[in-house]
Amino acid sequence: MNIVNTIEEVRDKVKSWRKEGSTIGLVTTMGYLHEGHESLIKRAVSENDKVVVSVFVNPTQFGPNEDLKTYPRDITRDGELCESAGASLIFNPEPSTMYYKDASTTINVKGLTEGLCGAKRPVHFGGVCLVVSKLFNIVTPDRAYFGEKDAQQLAVIKRMVRDLNFNIEIIGCPIIREADGLAKSSRNAYLSKDERKAAVVLSKSLECGKKALNSGERNADKVKKIIIQKLNSESLAKIDYVEIVDSLNLKPVSNIDGNILVAIAVYIGKIRLIDNFTFKI
Ligand code: PAJ
Repeated sequence: MNIVNTIEEVRDKVKSWRKEGSTIGLVTTMGYLHEGHESLIKRAVSENDKVVVSVFVNPTQFGPNEDLKTYPRDITRDGELCESAGASLIFNPEPSTMYYKDASTTINVKGLTEGLCGAKRPVHFGGVCLVVSKLFNIVTPDRAYFGEKDAQQLAVIKRMVRDLNFNIEIIGCPIIREADGLAKSSRNAYLSKDERKAAVVLSKSLECGKKALNSGERNADKVKKIIIQKLNSESLAKIDYVEIVDSLNLKPVSNIDGNILVAIAVYIGKIRLIDNFTFKI
């Protein structure tokens, strides 16, 4: 697998591909790749001539007490997965390559980043927007692929791309799950055996919420209560949030109508996991 570390090498490659008239897809990741990432890469490969995968554990999106130092890494395995999925290039920069020490620019997507995960992670989406914009400017892809697993991230990126006129199509891809329903995540690697078993309660609780919606429940508080009840039945689970919001502007709704996002964040032991589903009336 062709793995490069510098911005110049990416720009040279992109220039030669553009000369050939190739289209370019980008999949941005923090590495430790799993089938969720792989599904994005395969989708990108099917829709573009060339695909760049960025592997970069982005320091600016981690809060002071978060897992930046311990975030799992394995670039050799990531290379193998990218190769077999058909990617053309991995961009794996050092933090010093991506960030000037005296960088002054921030990006704040107001209104979409204060709630849900943003409430407990105040610096997170600013860091995500900054690194994604920089990767967009370095790779200049035609299309970029993001997972619906991180539904707030996807909504924020779409808004940023619209507001800042990035000439890039943003494509959302469905959540890939383990056989028991747990959404795949690099952070699942942190779970002990018991915690891994307990973690299935996230998707199970969402199934309960979906069932209520499918049988006609339209009161958001009642649907939330059903989800909370299921989550509380698992002693290792501690709820961070259970929210029902408009899928475009991420504002909480009380009566369910139109396109909504049901999103949860739950601690299983010390590990914070997220999951969600969208529902259309
Ligand atoms: P990371 O958590 O590595 O995820 C990279 C991409 O893979 C994201 O678009 C994410 O939504 C998607 N993804 C992760 N698990 C998935 C699953 N189970 N099913 C489908 N897609 C899944 O998200 C980030 O990195 C970072 O914030 C990043 C955008 C790279 C910026 O640093």
